[in-house]
Amino acid sequence: MKSRIYVANWKMNMPLDGALELTKQCKKLMAHQDNKEKQIVLCPTFPALYPIAKLLQSTPIGIGAQNCSEHEMGAYTGEVSAQSLSQVGCTYCIVGHSERRNYFHETNEIIARKVGKLFGAAINPIICIGETAKEHKDNKTLQALEQQLDPIINVINNAEQCSDELYIAYEPVWAIGTGKVPDKATLQTTFNWLHAHVQSALQPAKSVYLLYGGSVDEHTVKDIAEVQYIDGFLVGGASLDFQKFKNIVSLA
Ligand code: 13P
Repeated sequence: MKSRIYVANWKMNMPLDGALELTKQCKKLMAHQDNKEKQIVLCPTFPALYPIAKLLQSTPIGIGAQNCSEHEMGAYTGEVSAQSLSQVGCTYCIVGHSERRNYFHETNEIIARKVGKLFGAAINPIICIGETAKEHKDNKTLQALEQQLDPIINVINNAEQCSDELYIAYEPVWAIGTGKVPDKATLQTTFNWLHAHVQSALQPAKSVYLLYGGSVDEHTVKDIAEVQYIDGFLVGGASLDFQKFKNIVSLA
């Protein structure tokens, strides 16, 4: 296992030319001896996946999509299948991001089906879960996480094929793009629960990595990294700026 994983979710914020430039900079960064034990994964928009995969051939940098279809193939205009993602070189795919849950009405069941399709295509899913500001205020964080996670764990436990590695990214919705991060004690409670829940509910022999996302930057990352059971980070805004992303990778 790599010591830490850093996933850059560029969302719809990085056009192709910028994405290629940033990829080249990340390639140089990861060639450095200090970073050999670290894993980075770049998640550009769909059109950038193939050219980036070409640029990153024979490097350890992973390539991830930001979404995939819940269907295998067929008349689903505008959708992209897990199989196509695999063919262009993706080995990771983010699913269930809160922006997809909110703006595109994705349910836990849809997300669970996407995870199943990713397994079929040998892509490691990065499954996002997280409570809303109201759930946080009402002390319902763990309840919300359990509700989101359990349908997916069910699919995983019953899947004929499963990817080698599973990534669960805890992203409190209220922390995304706001500069707010849960305090360390609260984060520790959440990750203690996540670790224990995944250990007990998931059938054994799966490598599960727990990530944190939501306002991770060069100022917040050190404290977050001290929380036990956090194996890596899912970074939005700060991953668009090479210097900031580099600082995150070197600080934590
Ligand atoms: P920010 O890092 O911009 O808060 O975004 C987090 C996120 O949504 C990553 O998936």
